[in-house]
Amino acid sequence: MSKVFASLGMSLDGFIAGPGARPGNPLGDGGTRIHEWVYDVETWRARQNVEGGRAEQDDDVVRENFDRSGAYVMGRRMFAEGEVGWPDPPPFRAPVFVLTHTPREPWVRQGGTTFAFVTDGIHSALDQARKAAAGKDVQISGGAETVRQFIEAGLLDELQIHLAPLVLGAGVRLFDGVSPALGLEPARVVASPRVTHLTYLLTAPRA
Ligand SMILES: NC(=O)c1ccc[n+]([C@@H]2O[C@H](COP(=O)([O-])OP(=O)(O)OC[C@H]3O[C@@H](n4cnc5c(N)ncnc54)[C@H](OP(=O)(O)O)[C@@H]3O)[C@@H](O)[C@H]2O)c1
Repeated sequence: MSKVFASLGMSLDGFIAGPGARPGNPLGDGGTRIHEWVYDVETWRARQNVEGGRAEQDDDVVRENFDRSGAYVMGRRMFAEGEVGWPDPPPFRAPVFVLTHTPREPWVRQGGTTFAFVTDGIHSALDQARKAAAGKDVQISGGAETVRQFIEAGLLDELQIHLAPLVLGAGVRLFDGVSPALGLEPARVVASPRVTHLTYLLTAPRA
């Protein structure tokens, strides 16, 4: 069975975006600093249709995640920021299911990325993503509201946090409202000079 995983950049004080995130200010004030380690790695640049870049352990982590993902699920607020900024072809190169309460026709881009809009909830989005992924894993891309729902419903198998050595002070927190009973089993740590990649398997709730 394919896995359902999330992979999020985070500041040391627990924010996945700064305040004021919106289209035109992606990741909010100061939030792009969370991803500074990723912008110059080879695989990320290739997915932005740019040549060159670092090919070290940070690149291995990014490549692994793209390679294993057969489909993506994301929240409409994340999508709205990317819609105005992602190149064509966008980085996903796979079907993307966008959770929203507002119906919209699918948006077909080059390179295998189609954004389909799902208005009947996370279970439906996951069913559609699993089918589209054809045996590969499903990545829950974010943002916080979306990943939290998958955690709370027990649908997330694996959570990766890419912990950036910086303090944002305010913004969007991933774990706000998540039960302290959340069961997490540390599975892998990859440390680079730029960021610490933490992988947890989600387990049964703690007693
Ligand atoms: N650090 C990272 O790695 C990372 C990764 C991804 C995103 N981000 C950032 O996270 C921020 C966005 O996170 P967020 O928590 O504010 O929002 P989000 O999860 O991206 O999107 C929330 C929106 O998704 C829709 N939605 C969510 N659950 C739904 C459901 N069950 N049924 C129908 N619609 C549903 C709703 O859209 P409607 O309002 O259209 O109904 C809701 O307003 C952005 O700034 C983004 O850049 C950071």
